[in-house]
Amino acid sequence: MKKVAIIGTGYVGLPTGVGLAELGNRVVCVDKLADKIDKLNRGELTLYEDGMEELFRKNVAAGALSFTTDMESAVKGADIVMLAVGTPPHPVTKEADLKYIYAAAEELAGYLDGYTVVATKSTVPVGTGDEIEQIIAKVNPKADFDVVSLPEFLREGFAIHDFFNPDRIVIGTDSEKARKVMLELYRPFEGKSEFLCVKRRSSETIKYASNAFLAMKIHYVNEMADFCECSGADIREVAKGMGLDSRIGKKFLNPGPGYGGSCFPKDTNAMAQMGKKFGSHLNLIETTIAENDNRKVKMGRRVIEAIKEHPEGKIAVLGLAFKGGTDDCRESPAIDIIKEMIKYSRNITVYDPKALNNAKSILNNTVSYANDAEEACSGADVAVILTEWEDFRTLDLGRLAKIMNCAKIVDLRNMLSAEAVKQAGFEYQCIGQRK
Ligand code: UGA
Repeated sequence: MKKVAIIGTGYVGLPTGVGLAELGNRVVCVDKLADKIDKLNRGELTLYEDGMEELFRKNVAAGALSFTTDMESAVKGADIVMLAVGTPPHPVTKEADLKYIYAAAEELAGYLDGYTVVATKSTVPVGTGDEIEQIIAKVNPKADFDVVSLPEFLREGFAIHDFFNPDRIVIGTDSEKARKVMLELYRPFEGKSEFLCVKRRSSETIKYASNAFLAMKIHYVNEMADFCECSGADIREVAKGMGLDSRIGKKFLNPGPGYGGSCFPKDTNAMAQMGKKFGSHLNLIETTIAENDNRKVKMGRRVIEAIKEHPEGKIAVLGLAFKGGTDDCRESPAIDIIKEMIKYSRNITVYDPKALNNAKSILNNTVSYANDAEEACSGADVAVILTEWEDFRTLDLGRLAKIMNCAKIVDLRNMLSAEAVKQAGFEYQCIGQRK
């Protein structure tokens, strides 16, 4: 059993805290936002993750998991302090903004007592571990500590599943003592997951290199989809054929409207900036970023093109979140595509099973909002699928064809069966197939 303090209760900190408590540790989560901590202390979760609620309640009731705004009480006596605060992109430079992580390091430094591992879970540029080490040593020259890079690979919406089923646990440090503490913490995963102990800078790089690679893989399949549209091949068949090669792998070969979310856009940009900083240009990543941005504009225009015979016609948008299974609209391709369409149309009605409220705070009154897919599609001249919600696979196509003004679907997530849609009388466009 380790005593763990986790600083930051967002998409990384909270599921990690719940998971570590479930593994038998005593976890205290700290956040500056008093409202958030009050809510958590009242037993209310502040974000949705499948399977989290039950573990949260169980571990709070058992006294293994608690929440506070008081850094001192959480850090004093902790074996491990995890930094899980945000590293948002700087609005101008696009570099990761490290002010929160540096402020947290400065604050916690004074409360370290006894040997403590300070583990960075936030995604931070290469070399940040060195900076954190210097900050702590400066504030508290007597502190006995090591700074470890402990990158996080959880996916939003699957964070609890991913916590208990990690592909790998990467521990970045040169300190034997710190490595031992971290290996003890993750001992329950021995035999189930790969452990990789590496230099701190390698570990920091692994996180960015992995996210950037996945973003490039998505960009690659999107580019292949465009090629298939021109060449007469079918991307579904092509992606399947590629994915059967175990060196390529089946995952992350779904073409779509471009990648989004709070991680890939931020991390690819930060990685590109790091390349410039270290004098090693990352051309593949830079191209991926630019092409992913272009793609969203192209997709918006594709929808407008689909209603060119009814330029005033109603566009029904199905899906606003950056991917299925979450209410998160940060950097959602759906939002960027809608913003492009707004330039040409003021007749857009949107629906999402979970993300309507988050989308409202971004799109305001530029679009109309519907309470379900049918309401959105009623009288529409085209329906556009922008997020891969399972509910959209089981849409009652016969009914939609009747209530729409024009039976037309643009499926930018390739969710529907072309045959079924055409049989229901729709004109159907998807990605990576000739019309
Ligand atoms: C991503 C990584 O998958 C996690 O391993 C990582 O820990 C996390 O970022 C992070 O750095 O915190 P996440 O942002 O939750 O996780 O979302 P993904 O499931 O990776 O999807 C990202 C975007 O790519 C979404 O817009 C999704 O729709 C798109 N995507 C994904 C595709 O367009 N095609 C695919 O085949 C897969």
